[in-house]
Amino acid sequence: MKKLSVFIAKGGTGKTTTAVNLSAGLAERGKRVVLVDADPQGCVSSYFNIEPTGGLAELILGEKIKLVRLRNNFVVMTSGGSRLWDVTGKLSQTPDRYTHVSKAFARLRDCDFIIFDCAPSLDVLTYNVLNYSDNVLVPVSMDYLSALSAVETVNAIHRFRETGNGRVFGVLPTFYDKRTRMSRIILRMIKDHFGKLVTETIIRTNTQINEAPSTGSTVFEHAPYSYGAADYLNLVDEVDARL
Ligand SMILES: Nc1ncnc2c1ncn2[C@@H]1O[C@H](COP(=O)(O)OP(=O)(O)OP(=O)(O)O)[C@@H](O)[C@H]1O
Ligand SMILES: [Mg+2]
Repeated sequence: MKKLSVFIAKGGTGKTTTAVNLSAGLAERGKRVVLVDADPQGCVSSYFNIEPTGGLAELILGEKIKLVRLRNNFVVMTSGGSRLWDVTGKLSQTPDRYTHVSKAFARLRDCDFIIFDCAPSLDVLTYNVLNYSDNVLVPVSMDYLSALSAVETVNAIHRFRETGNGRVFGVLPTFYDKRTRMSRIILRMIKDHFGKLVTETIIRTNTQINEAPSTGSTVFEHAPYSYGAADYLNLVDEVDARL
């Protein structure tokens, strides 16, 4: 069972979009995937228009959960909605505060991939998820503040690894637009700084990727011939080959 979290401590860089489309693409390949919404904003539920109940918050609390089967091989654990804010608040006051997610997932079997869509903050819940994950994918959009945040995020993951778990699988450039000078500069900056940690895959800015959530579909369903679908297929290949 491979455990990957999608995280950067910066909002709006394409974490949810990446977690959803990577999960869906791996499932289409025949891998059994559980996508976990580890963000109290509940964007995975919003994406697929499902009720965010019986999810991660309930699992951590030891209550009954309800996994939602979305497609063949593709199951979602919702965040539990706003309850996840309260649960996160309580976690920090407990002993072994970074091990709750690991304990809660200990009995989960029968899947090939667990993919976590994280919130854009390095709080106690995210540390729990990192601690349980073996790998972290860091989506960075092509702007200066995201690039700085990627540096801070990767440093924090490396620091956390000294006592916990979670290695950086890759830094994934998102919102790339080759026509803009900024995209080219930021991509160069990221490659110079992170070297081989930068994924082969680059996700370009693409209207169809942006449209897909409004129809509750993945980019592969919404626009299979778009370059958004092609980019996410490359990511599926890369993760499948290297993880
Ligand atoms: N490659 C892309 N091209 C165009 N639009 C995109 C692309 N990736 C994501 N988007 C859009 O950008 C917005 C932000 O993406 P997303 O929600 O995936 O970011 P996020 O990092 O999960 O945000 P948050 O930090 O709030 O959780 C969404 O409206 C999404 O549809
Ligand atoms: Mg998100």
